[in-house]
Amino acid sequence: MKRRTLLLAGGGLLAAGAAGTALSLRGMGSTQDYAAGAARLREALTAQPGMVDLVRFATLAANSHNTQPWRFRLAPGRMALLPDFARRTPAVDPDDHHMFVSLGCAAANLALAAQARGLTGELRFASGSPDHLVFEHGVGPATASPLFEAIVQRQSTRGEYDGRTASSADLDQLMQAARTPGVELALVTDTAARERIGELVLAGNSAQMADPAFVSELRQWLRFNPREALSSGDGLYAACSGNPIGPSWLAPTLFKLFFKEKTENDKYARQLRSAAGLAVFSADKDDPEHWLRVGQACQRFALQATALGMKHAFLNQPAEVPSLRAELAALAGFPGRRPNLLMRFGYGPGLPYSLRRSAASVIEPA
Ligand SMILES: Cc1cc2nc3c(=O)[nH]c(=O)nc-3n(C[C@H](O)[C@H](O)[C@H](O)COP(=O)(O)O)c2cc1C
Repeated sequence: MKRRTLLLAGGGLLAAGAAGTALSLRGMGSTQDYAAGAARLREALTAQPGMVDLVRFATLAANSHNTQPWRFRLAPGRMALLPDFARRTPAVDPDDHHMFVSLGCAAANLALAAQARGLTGELRFASGSPDHLVFEHGVGPATASPLFEAIVQRQSTRGEYDGRTASSADLDQLMQAARTPGVELALVTDTAARERIGELVLAGNSAQMADPAFVSELRQWLRFNPREALSSGDGLYAACSGNPIGPSWLAPTLFKLFFKEKTENDKYARQLRSAAGLAVFSADKDDPEHWLRVGQACQRFALQATALGMKHAFLNQPAEVPSLRAELAALAGFPGRRPNLLMRFGYGPGLPYSLRRSAASVIEPA
């Protein structure tokens, strides 16, 4: 059977011989079941949500490799977020920076969802305690914001954008939404700086793809078809990155075909050129509390972008490869600091939504 008859692009089905199609489909699960699962996760928050429903909204946050490295401990008036160290990704994230950023993203969603249903309160950082981040709340007026409404719409959209620029009013709103004590944000729209940052992204990608530990870790979190994605509820489903899906037995071949340094670098170069701008986040201090704060800032940025009809995606390679950090920081106007995250934003079509594990499975007894 020819290779092209087996690949499914972005959830669409290409023709194959009858017997071959039946076999490969049975092995892969259905794209309709996948879409239904992704939609169920994003159903509206109930009017008087129980804690499990609030946790569902928290878990819709961006998180590195979609590992969902979090646990929630609930008690009356108190929700604690804990890192789940069983879900570390030591090759790409040796100091657990991304893990804490991901937790901060979930905390931002949790606070917005709780406030939208009249549970008002403060996020408190409990550095050094096992709980790390606590949302203590009482009952107050319900305040649903456009950021809350955007939680179910937001996705990391890894496709090409359409090259439109963003208005300065929209850029201001992005800055406002992301404003978080202890975190600086630079929006880079200048062509020369963007091109230089783009070169760092490609250099970072080349370095990572030459690192067997990085590649093997990434491979573990890839989900090549709906069945793999639905059965784990986590990881990076190929279609969410605009890549073809295929049966699990073909995964090693698909991986070799599509994860080539030059192919990836060419794709990143097109994606960078098509963006309206880049966003670089940098915290005042390099510790878990500040990484949590970066997560809050970046999630709020992503939600505001979504509310404005923009797409966003992460391009963290020059923040992840230590030798590239200093130049990224300098180009963003943060010389001498650690750049925590690099994102692109712009306008363009969406891609399939990612999945999550059930909220109940990430809650532990108080
Ligand atoms: C700290 C952090 C680092 C991330 N790094 C990358 C990255 O380098 N490249 C990428 O494509 N996505 C990256 N992501 C996005 C996640 O892969 C994405 O949030 C996850 O797969 C869930 O998908 P969603 O954002 O569409 O809900 C990152 C997200 C976070 C929070």
